[in-house]
Amino acid sequence: LAEKVGQMLQLDARGDLDDVVRVRLAGSILHASPERMLEAIALVAETRLQIPLLTADDAIHGHSFWPGATIFPTQLAMACTWDTTLVEKAARVTAVEVAATGIHWTFSPVLCIARDLRWGRVNETFGEDPTLIAELGAAMIHGYQGDGLDDPTAVLACAKHFAGYSETQGGRDASEADISRRKLRSWFLPPFERAAREGCRTFMLGYQAMDGVPITANSWLLNEVLRGEWGYTGTLVTDWDNVGRMVWEQRVCADHAEAATVAVNAGNDLVMTTPQFFEGAQEAVSDGRLDEARLDDAVRRVLRLKFELGLFENPRLPDASLQARVIGSPEHSAVNLEVARRSIVLLRNDGVLPLIHAGQLDVAQGGEDRLIAVVGPNADDPQSMLGDWAGNSGQIPWMPDGHPRHTVDTVLDGIRDVAPPGWTVTHARGANIVDLVPNPAGATYPDGQPRGPVPVPASPDADLIQAAVEAARAADVVVAVLGDTVDLTGETCSTATLELLGGQTALLEALVATGTPVVLVLVHSKPSVLPPAAEGVAAILEAFNPGMRGGTALAEILFGLTEPTGRLPISVPRHVGQQPIYYNQVRGQHGDRYADLTQEPLFAFGEGMSYTRVEYSDLVIDQSSVDMDDAVRASVTVTNRGSRPTIETVQVYVSDQVTSVTWADQELKSWIQVPLEPGEQRRVRVQVPVADCTLVTADERRVVEAGAFSLRVGSSSRARDLLSAEFTVVGKE
Ligand code: NOJ
Repeated sequence: LAEKVGQMLQLDARGDLDDVVRVRLAGSILHASPERMLEAIALVAETRLQIPLLTADDAIHGHSFWPGATIFPTQLAMACTWDTTLVEKAARVTAVEVAATGIHWTFSPVLCIARDLRWGRVNETFGEDPTLIAELGAAMIHGYQGDGLDDPTAVLACAKHFAGYSETQGGRDASEADISRRKLRSWFLPPFERAAREGCRTFMLGYQAMDGVPITANSWLLNEVLRGEWGYTGTLVTDWDNVGRMVWEQRVCADHAEAATVAVNAGNDLVMTTPQFFEGAQEAVSDGRLDEARLDDAVRRVLRLKFELGLFENPRLPDASLQARVIGSPEHSAVNLEVARRSIVLLRNDGVLPLIHAGQLDVAQGGEDRLIAVVGPNADDPQSMLGDWAGNSGQIPWMPDGHPRHTVDTVLDGIRDVAPPGWTVTHARGANIVDLVPNPAGATYPDGQPRGPVPVPASPDADLIQAAVEAARAADVVVAVLGDTVDLTGETCSTATLELLGGQTALLEALVATGTPVVLVLVHSKPSVLPPAAEGVAAILEAFNPGMRGGTALAEILFGLTEPTGRLPISVPRHVGQQPIYYNQVRGQHGDRYADLTQEPLFAFGEGMSYTRVEYSDLVIDQSSVDMDDAVRASVTVTNRGSRPTIETVQVYVSDQVTSVTWADQELKSWIQVPLEPGEQRRVRVQVPVADCTLVTADERRVVEAGAFSLRVGSSSRARDLLSAEFTVVGKE
């Protein structure tokens, strides 16, 4: 019994390894430093059955905690590419690097829907749209799991956080989610269902409770929906101490024996970091509360995973010579640069960009001498380029200085490297974002984990601003790199505001007042609310956390060596009070604005500019009446009216005109990326299966209802950017 219970445990390898492996017989570990991984493996040889460990970690956008590994843009930034092939490539690179280090499993991708931007984990999501999330999530899962688990470079993917975790109250992390089963089925479950069908071998739970039921106890979701309706055969892991939290935090179980009983009966297989489950589950079996057969089901699923990975034949140990060849290799870095280039979104441009116009000046020669001032707290901050889940982002202790400095291109590095000869680059920090002060709640959590200091907005610093203003006055153009820091990002780090904090607003005002054109580059974990001074900037580039090669990618776009092609996977509000502002809202409210503010976002889902202008015309549907089992097919003309090439993301939305229940006014159904040379015109075919034009009925059935629909095709979700054509679905529901 102890050995079975042990197989269900996934314990923290930063703790006492002897206790983890020899005493509690853990079947799985996480957060092992490279050295401790080897120690843990050696200890397994001292156990009776010597069952290989399943090793796991959070390789979220690259091998997060391996010094010098390839760290990609965050998931939110990757989502700006809208490119499944690139996302799959990034995940493949990550898998190759992770597998070389003896880790079998990454806790990625996040399939949560980002709706309240105050939530600290928006950066970990693919944004706000279930279809975009499902597609990119499927690509990532394929990238991790490769051609199958017998491939030595495959790592297990993990769809998380199942499900509804992001529907927080007030953006507060892990708060009780106010979410009905119908709402879950409508928007939150579809990306997970897709992941299950794509063969994602593991799922991780969220933290929250819904309707009074902690997710860890939600037998309906785990047993009936996931394993029953979707026929899922993979393995489920709880989130961090979920089982213990039912005792000490949510207080729905009196002790660990009760919590173990509830968790096992609800269908959990691996229990993450609740060491007390070891005693609790054994006690519950011996006093008859927990049927050992239920435990056997879970252990069988854990062991099956180990067999699928072939661990009994080949425990997939760390391979130092392979690591030397693959980790951070030039090939991987090239993929990273490509993803970063495609993830940057141009949101505004009065013509200042690109800084060098092909044709006017020779890019390679650089033309006349110019001076560029690169300012702002994120202009030269390596950790902000990487964002959360990378090196020194707060989760693990063995990389106190983060990833090696030379592996990260900051914006300043990128501009210095890419600026043509004759250009002078100056730098001033200009402002601080936050100061760190001791946590008023004490230095540790009730479970003993360290509780870090809290960030408070820094005061504007007159000397820093003055130095930046002088640099701006002397320059031909200012690149102001503003945003947030990892201290304002991640688990337990939700924010009450979305503004650019600290001295940044004062800095931007002062820069704009110099009259030198300002290019605002946003390096942050999630959309920010921009201050009024942003009205005065000449251009805005959205980078989110663009990864190790982000600085080079940004510089190439600034100078015009690369075309900006990213599109927003998330809406950008004008004011924090507009939350939630996602585009696919349910119809029905009085009016369409606040009394004191428009309800329109500043930048909408799908939006993004190019250095050229693409025009849409002649949307024509082949057959305006389509059967339930058919697809609506249409053509649209896209014309590049400018003098530069681009990749246009042609977005396809559907609106169901009359629905039996209230429903979103429009939903993204597909998109196509079309390369266009200057002046080129193409007729693009679009197609949406009628089976995708669904809604969820009041009794929770996903159906297509016959009747009138609109097909909307264009460059963003904004009404003014979409052409519309009508079609009718005929047949029975
Ligand atoms: C808690 C986080 O919610 C989850 O996303 C992560 O994978 C685990 N901790 C393990 O680090």
